[in-house]
Amino acid sequence: MNRKDEHVSLAKAFYKGKPNDFDSIRLIHSSLPELALKEVDLSTKLFDFNLSSPFYINAMTGGSEKTKEINRQLAIVARETDLLIATGSVSAALKDSSLIDSYSVMREEYPEGKILVNIGGGVSVDNAKRAVDLFETDGLQIHLNVPQELVMPEGDRDFRNWLSIIEEINQQMNVPVLVKEVGFGMTRETITALLSTGIQTIDVSGQGGTSFTQIENARRKKREFAYLDDWGQSTVISLLEANELTRNFQKVASGGIRNAYDIFKALCLGADAVGISGTILNSLLSHGTEKTIALVEQWKEELRILYTMTGSQTTADVTKHPLILTGYPKDWCEARMID
Ligand code: FNR
Repeated sequence: MNRKDEHVSLAKAFYKGKPNDFDSIRLIHSSLPELALKEVDLSTKLFDFNLSSPFYINAMTGGSEKTKEINRQLAIVARETDLLIATGSVSAALKDSSLIDSYSVMREEYPEGKILVNIGGGVSVDNAKRAVDLFETDGLQIHLNVPQELVMPEGDRDFRNWLSIIEEINQQMNVPVLVKEVGFGMTRETITALLSTGIQTIDVSGQGGTSFTQIENARRKKREFAYLDDWGQSTVISLLEANELTRNFQKVASGGIRNAYDIFKALCLGADAVGISGTILNSLLSHGTEKTIALVEQWKEELRILYTMTGSQTTADVTKHPLILTGYPKDWCEARMID
């Protein structure tokens, strides 16, 4: 089977919406929110884009006939719900032009949309520029996916110079650049290193949802890396790590978002915006485009209720809402001396 098709079918097969560190967060109730639901504003800023919702469809796929159809449907969901959307990694299409339309279908379906193009950490400045031009995108996502590459039998084995390449890309692009993980999370040290390159927007994309060590291990003959299935820092922990830094930057949370409550908790933990992949993909493949559009609209409605209940008129207000940490994230904070 084509690798991109295999990723999609394994992501769906492994998708369980299972328990994760978002379950360790308790929000504090207050009886007097002093707010009306109609006053709630869900909008947020990513780069200098105004997004009408605080969440978006994160990078997934492209590179085959089947994934072209998935990208078409994802773009329709984004268009009908006014969400930002990212392509999957276009690295393959930069080498083989026959694959281009499996990604450009997103722009065809969503001409007015905000679309980010996705490339890998070691991709050259020239290829980053080509990617943005080729797919007429509004911004660039660079993914960091070392464990995935190493468990992938045919993956990369050399991860030198990524920081200097990121720095050069960031200096030379005429669109905004975001650096993301792919579900293994980040620490404050990683984030500090990224900020030192001039990058201003970081998606910590943590453990707790789609696992690319699990997916790539399932593609190996001996499946010897099952112990890496839950490798990495969860999204909750990655956000707590990010909050330790005093420097100002845009925080994006993704990884393990199962519902509106997880989106809300990620915002409470300081995220400016929240990316979702596995849950949207699973909905699309299990229930189709119409029901996925309805699900996204339902999440917006639930978020309005959660904002009202917590007295948060804006997304920026949500980040001030107090919460209690329990379980593993609490232990992590103690071990890493996070207040
Ligand atoms: C991904 N993800 C991803 N990320 C990326 O930067 N480039 C890519 O090409 C892909 N490809 C991809 C394919 C599929 C099928 C899935 C489900 C995911 C990773 C994604 O953007 C995200 O970081 C992780 O999936 C964690 O989020 P969820 O899935 O737990 O919401």
